[in-house]
Amino acid sequence: MFGFLGPNGAGKTTTMRMIQCISPVTGGSLEVLDMDVSTCQREIKSHMGVVPQENNLDEDFTVYENLLVYSRYFDIPKDEAEKRVEELLDFVQLLEKKDVMTESLSGGMKRRLVLARALINRPDVLILDEPTVGLDPQARHLIWEKLRNLKKQGVTIVLTSHYLDEVEKLCDRLVVMDNGKILVEGSPMGVIEEFIGSDIIEAENNPELLECLQQKEAKYEIIGDTVHIYADNAREISEFLLMECSLSKISARPATLEDVFLKLTGRRLRE
Ligand SMILES: Nc1ncnc2c1ncn2[C@@H]1O[C@H](COP(=O)(O)OP(=O)(O)OP(=O)(O)O)[C@@H](O)[C@H]1O
Ligand SMILES: [Mg+2]
Repeated sequence: MFGFLGPNGAGKTTTMRMIQCISPVTGGSLEVLDMDVSTCQREIKSHMGVVPQENNLDEDFTVYENLLVYSRYFDIPKDEAEKRVEELLDFVQLLEKKDVMTESLSGGMKRRLVLARALINRPDVLILDEPTVGLDPQARHLIWEKLRNLKKQGVTIVLTSHYLDEVEKLCDRLVVMDNGKILVEGSPMGVIEEFIGSDIIEAENNPELLECLQQKEAKYEIIGDTVHIYADNAREISEFLLMECSLSKISARPATLEDVFLKLTGRRLRE
């Protein structure tokens, strides 16, 4: 499972669309399942499932029909398709909604249906562009469980998400990108350790603290009235700071992918 992270407009969806053979590759080369995207589009698409960033279900059809009609793009025999539709609706827990028109589904149900639709051709590669956006914690956990299941079955999953805890939990490897360029690549733990260290100490910003930090040659970042101190030895630094300078508030926590993301791509809003 591979994650693409990056701020709004970084080029994640554009990259996903190139992998799906929808957007042209303007530079370099791109192979999916050892096939070139510019010459083997049909073959690649037949092995691929896609959950696009925007839901694009057919509102004129029921839940069941949406999947059945989609199966025709892959020449799946009708009997087999009907069997798969039932299985997939069960997989995403939508069997009860089988005969409902999709426009009356909730946001989370629509997302689960799009995931089921992406699996109709039993893909080897699954592309997920922000699969859990807007979902409640229950639906998100359900999707995570399904994705882990698919991963166990050997499906390659490519994911974008702004929920960095999700990426940290699920992905084996990831890149952080911005302006169409890769900034880092590695495992979630690997990039956290490389760019932040194991822990972050958060303390209230004051001149005395900054002096202490400089004396200790600690790595830190000032964010408004808070200071983030990057540390592999949180306990030692916390104790030093508590002894040496007057602090009103200090807390330590494990570093996360979100810290890496903000460090690499800045804290200012895009566009
Ligand atoms: N390599 C690139 N060079 C120049 N422009 C690019 C490149 N990649 C993407 N763009 C442009 O940047 C814009 C946003 O790209 P895209 O939709 O891929 O962003 P995103 O990372 O998916 O953002 P979001 O998190 O908001 O979904 C588009 O207008 C796209 O054409
Ligand atoms: Mg996008």
